[in-house]
Parts: sequence; structure tokens; C-alpha cells
Amino acid sequence: MPGHSRFLNACRRQPVDTTPIWIMRQAGRYLPQYRATRAKAGDFLTLCKTPELACEVSLQPVDILKVDAAILFSDILIPVEAMGIELAFTEGEGPKLTPVRSNQDVARLHVPDALAETGFVMDAVRLIRRELGGRVPLIGFSGAPFTLASYAVEGGASRNFRYSLAWMHADPVGFSALLDLLADTVIAYCSAQVEAGVQVLQIFDTWAGVLSRRLYREFALPATRKVVHALRRFDVPIILYVNGSAPFLEETAAVGADVLSVDWRVSLAEVAERTRGAAALKGNLDVRALYGGPKVIEREVARVLADAPVQGHIFNLGHGILPDTPVEAAQCLVETVHRLGRKEV
Ligand code: CP3
Repeated sequence: MPGHSRFLNACRRQPVDTTPIWIMRQAGRYLPQYRATRAKAGDFLTLCKTPELACEVSLQPVDILKVDAAILFSDILIPVEAMGIELAFTEGEGPKLTPVRSNQDVARLHVPDALAETGFVMDAVRLIRRELGGRVPLIGFSGAPFTLASYAVEGGASRNFRYSLAWMHADPVGFSALLDLLADTVIAYCSAQVEAGVQVLQIFDTWAGVLSRRLYREFALPATRKVVHALRRFDVPIILYVNGSAPFLEETAAVGADVLSVDWRVSLAEVAERTRGAAALKGNLDVRALYGGPKVIEREVARVLADAPVQGHIFNLGHGILPDTPVEAAQCLVETVHRLGRKEV
């Protein structure tokens, strides 16, 4: 069975020969080949904005790891920059943005024309599809409105989300207007990716785990649901990744995605039970298991598979692979999942 049907079939909860796997941040610094291409680009944003180089790094994990899907190489903050928020990546410090802290700041932003303002992303999508030649499907992605809002409001990564949550409490209407603008941006950006050729979409809500169940339900859920509903007009599976979603799994299921991707802190069996089988599941090996060698990897993979549904499971990590992970560990993971995940036919 060709790899592409394995991954797409699992998204649709149809039979597969073995469990498909891809790895969040599979194109990244742990790969020497990635570091070489990034050195060629000079800096991270140039890598994202040069379709030939973005294509090169997207394909690397397909060749090196034998994963069942490629993911577009880009960053969740690319459409945020296009909205009119200055963005820079400083070495070792992560992203820095000009903070959006008031309704006047929001009024200065716009929903970007995805083709005119982020056309390099769609060019990368077309190139990657051509270079893949149907070997595996291509995943496109976007940040979820709340996670994008948190970067815009905090001005970068944050430990305590002081400004975004303070704004939510003090001015729920104003903060919702920012989320709505971001939702419209995400809809236009993802639609353009599908039109350029991505076959699956993943929405990353990396920081929603900072929210209480009530705040998730009142703010993040309606904004993410608006995105997913609008993207329903395309026939592509939608994966929703919410890091730290254990306190409000039921609400993440209410978003209506085809696949729910969860972190390592919750068992897939518990997710299936609490979401009443509403979606296929993706995950959720603890990235730190990759440092333990083949025996630990095999034991922990078996543990995840034992908790997973027989149909409708895509193997992945609970969060992105870390830069100091040995490449052999990632290769061992893929081989082990394909071996232990084999189905009786
Ligand atoms: O998964 C992939 O291989 C595709 C590429 C991808 C990147 N970022 C490349 C990247 C994807 C899907 C993302 C999404 C992304 N970006 C998220 C959501 C995913 C998650 O981890 O939950 C977030 C929160 C961001 C924002 C972001 N981009 C941060 C916080 C950082 C700094 C991280 C760090 O460790 O320095 C980035 C930079 C980034 N994005 C890198 C890569 C490969 C490292 C940049 C480099 O080469 O120095």
C-alpha cells in the first residue's frame, strides 16, 4: 500500500497496513542536512521565504526518516507578519514581534491577501508537491487564533501570558475582535495553501493549555471552530493540535476537526473515551523517550500503540522534536512504529 493512502486513510479512520507516522518539527535543527540548508539561506526567515530552500528542507525527513507525510516548511508567524506586525527571529531567543496591546493596535492590522502577501508559501507548496511526485501527502498548517494572538500580544514566547490573559479578563469583546481578525487571516491563508496543493491541514494551538476550561470555551473554541467550519468547503482532513488540552478535551472535540492531536500527558485511551470517538487521534510519544535508545523507544511506542484506536491513529510525538535528538533515534522511531503497528489482514 503506498504511503500516501496510509496517512490519508488513517485521517479518515479507514483501514491501513500499518500505523502511519510523521514527526512534529521533523524538518529542523536535529538534522545536519537542515543546518546546511539553513546556513545557505543565512537566517531562518529567509529560509521560510525562499521556496526552493523551503522545499529542500521539507523533503529531507521524507528521505532520511521514511515518514508517511511531508509538512510544508514555514512558520506559524508568517501570516502574522503579513497582517502588519513586525517580526524578527533572534538567534537562540526565538521570535520577537511588535506587541499588539490595545484596540487601536488591532485597528492598524489587516487580513492579508494570502497570494499577494504570502505568495512565497504557495510557491513552496507547489514545488514540494512536484518534488514529492506522489510519494507521500503534503501537510499544510497554520497557528490557531489563540496561539497567534498570544505571540502578537506578548511580543514573543511567554512564560506567564501576562498581557494576553489580562486583556481577555479586562476587555473580552476587544480580545475576541483580535481573535476574529486572526481567524479570518487563518481561513484565507489555509484556503490558499489548499488551492496550491496541500492535502491535509494542521492547526497548531500550542499555547491554549494556559487557558482554563472556561476561557478555552469562551475564546479559543469559537475562533478555532470558525476556522474549521470555513475550511470544510475543501475535501482535506483537518488536524487540530492542542498542547495541554487534558483539562478540556471535550471542548477540543467540539471544534469539529477530523483528527485530534494531543500531547504526551494524557493517554490516547482517555482521549478516545472523553471525546466519544468523535475524531481520529494523533500522537503522543513523549519526545524525551527518544533519548533512551532503541529498547526504551520500542517499549514506549508499544505503550502508545496499546492505548490507540485500531483504526484512525496517526503516530506522532506529543510536541515538536528537540534540536539535540539523535537522528538515529528518529529513524528508529519510524521503523519501530511501522513494525509494531502492522495490522493483521
Ligand atoms: O514541523 C515542521 O517540520 C515544519 C516546520 C515548522 C516550523 N515551525 C519550523 C521552525 C512548523 C510546523 C512550525 C510551527 C511553529 N512555529 C509552532 C507550532 C508548533 C509547536 O511547536 O507547537 C510555533 C509555536 C512556532 C513559533 C516558533 N518558531 C518558535 C517558538 C521558534 C523558536 C524555537 C526554537 O527552538 O528556537 C520558531 C523557529 C523555528 N520554526 C525553527 C524551525 C525549524 C528553528 C529555527 C532555526 O532554524 O533556528
